[in-house]
Amino acid sequence: LPADEVAAVKSTWNSIKHDEVAILEAVFKAYPDIQARFPKFAGKSLDSIKGSADFAIHASRIVSFFSEYIAFLGVENTQPAIKTILNELGQSHRNRGVTKAQFEEFHQALNAYLKSHANWNPDIAHAWDDAFDKAYFVIFSAL
Ligand code: HEM
Repeated sequence: LPADEVAAVKSTWNSIKHDEVAILEAVFKAYPDIQARFPKFAGKSLDSIKGSADFAIHASRIVSFFSEYIAFLGVENTQPAIKTILNELGQSHRNRGVTKAQFEEFHQALNAYLKSHANWNPDIAHAWDDAFDKAYFVIFSAL
């Protein structure tokens, strides 16, 4: 990723990364089929789960994963480490039957969240598209 794109992704991510629960809530609200994949959350109303410890823990796992990935961007010699974490994510999700279409839904939901809660313009949108493409290229190869 070019340096200006890395900077755009990092600064917008830093501005929303503390919204862990709100991000997961936005994902489940937009795509109930994603929520339905979670044994702990399937079949329950979003309002009844969003305040739970389980919900907070999972929200934190997702956000931490993104933080780890984004921290690697733009740093020399991190390609193998990036590939490893993305491959592992693809494998763990393949084992749960998560589909590419659901990862695309997740992408749409996170994009919508960023758009409405972070500084946003066409260059920033393009930088995020590149960051997602790069991650999904590896994740999908393992899915
Ligand atoms: C677990 C991240 C997309 C369903 C996890 C974990 C992480 C994570 C870090 C815990 C570690 C692991 O088991 O690998 C992400 C990220 C995603 C993503 C970064 C998108 C880029 C999805 C999607 C679904 C999903 C689209 C469902 C449609 C699950 C389930 C678990 C899980 C069911 C297990 C939860 C549990 O029982 O503890 N995810 N995930 N994930 N993810 Fe994802």
